[in-house]
Amino acid sequence: MSSASRLSYADKLILAPMVRVGTLPMRLLALDYGADIVYCEELIDWKLLRSKRRENDVLGTVDYVDQSDGSIIFRTCPREKPSVVLQIGTCCPERALKVAKLVEQDVAGIDVNMGCPKEFSVKGGMGAALLAQPDKAQQILTALVQGVGLPVTCKIRILPEPGETLRLCRALAATGIAAIAIHGRTRDERPQHANHDSIIKAVAQELHIPVIANGGSKEIDCYDDIAAFKQRTGCSSVMLARAAQWNCSVFRPRGKAPLDDVIVAYLRYAVQYDNPPGNTKYCVQNMLRDLQDTPRGKQLLETQTLEQMCAVWQLGDYCRREQLRLKELGLQGRREVVPASLEPRLKRRKLGDGDGDDVTELQCAFIRNLYRADTDLPKTQLLLWARRNGAGQPAYTTVQEDKLFKSVVLLDGKKYSSSYWEKNKRWAEQGAALVCLWALGVVSLEALVKDGCIL
Ligand code: FNR
Repeated sequence: MSSASRLSYADKLILAPMVRVGTLPMRLLALDYGADIVYCEELIDWKLLRSKRRENDVLGTVDYVDQSDGSIIFRTCPREKPSVVLQIGTCCPERALKVAKLVEQDVAGIDVNMGCPKEFSVKGGMGAALLAQPDKAQQILTALVQGVGLPVTCKIRILPEPGETLRLCRALAATGIAAIAIHGRTRDERPQHANHDSIIKAVAQELHIPVIANGGSKEIDCYDDIAAFKQRTGCSSVMLARAAQWNCSVFRPRGKAPLDDVIVAYLRYAVQYDNPPGNTKYCVQNMLRDLQDTPRGKQLLETQTLEQMCAVWQLGDYCRREQLRLKELGLQGRREVVPASLEPRLKRRKLGDGDGDDVTELQCAFIRNLYRADTDLPKTQLLLWARRNGAGQPAYTTVQEDKLFKSVVLLDGKKYSSSYWEKNKRWAEQGAALVCLWALGVVSLEALVKDGCIL
């Protein structure tokens, strides 16, 4: 890449990396509203490495498709190419470099996550674990800086002692990275704790590369608040996560747009780029926040398909037309891609150490509208099948996370589950029953695909 087109990180407004939130529709929306640089959600190195690059002519995107289940790990398009940064979750210089090489032609920069405090990251030696291993962190960055022609950055959290933070940042900057983003909280501090703006400022004054201030969303409600955050941190560049997640038009110099307008614009991108319904719903729910308890919020909670979500904002017709158009153009969407890779979608997962803990899993949604009578429901069908075949009574266990549910059904000593989280316990049980019916051969995979249950 020539230095003329190389991404610069000085004086920039940046959409922060956010798992599940930072997918293509949100990134494009942030660019529309005035962000200069958009980070994608953290992508774990080995996941990307098992993906295959595919140019999607219908959508005009480049897709990195998971070879194991056909899902899309990273979708990008030419419009964001000069501004999109791919954030890697990694603990390994070689893997990080392989990922960077894989995506080099499609992105403007590479970032390494050195701040995620989640158990999954830290136990794997990634994210905030790297803060305690400066040598490893340096090795990763050096491999990237020397091995790819793109600017490399990292995103860290501060350490408990200001002096330690400075030392770490000096060491990281010495690898030749283009900028460093600092979330002004320690690994153990939570979003409700105050952001340590003064520590970011001390680092910004000392380093010769741009320091990107992060962690200010609690005090940022509009564009003018961004200027105040810059002032407090002494940084010319600011990275926003939650403020943008709540209302992405926070990047707009003339003030925020009404939330409904932002949601409509978001949904249009979701349709245009065939964003998965589950991800779309999650993002809109995060925009609604307290408004989820309003009639409109409750309506959204009931939805499962993109068309249903769009209908809540009077975009149902638009969605139907656009989906039809894309289908006619030959969109290889999730449903059409699935048949070629049906088998890998079947996963056998170990829940525990003991024998018999294998769970047969399929990513399969329960869509209530498909069943006219209660007797058609998967649970009823399964019960009848079990009685006819002397298989005993199906037994369901359900777990809940946030507002989502997932069930496992035990039948004849074997367990079945859908890897699609449902909005209530009843639906989660129906989803598990459906997977069981499929595994028993009562329902065909083709029928599930045709009904749109395979997501
Ligand atoms: C995050 N954050 C985060 N950070 C990161 O480096 N990689 C990631 O994938 C994520 N994922 C993520 C998801 C969601 C939903 C949130 C809210 C946050 C942390 C984020 O980038 C940022 O550092 C903090 O949220 C602090 O910045 P704000 O929110 O005060 O602007």
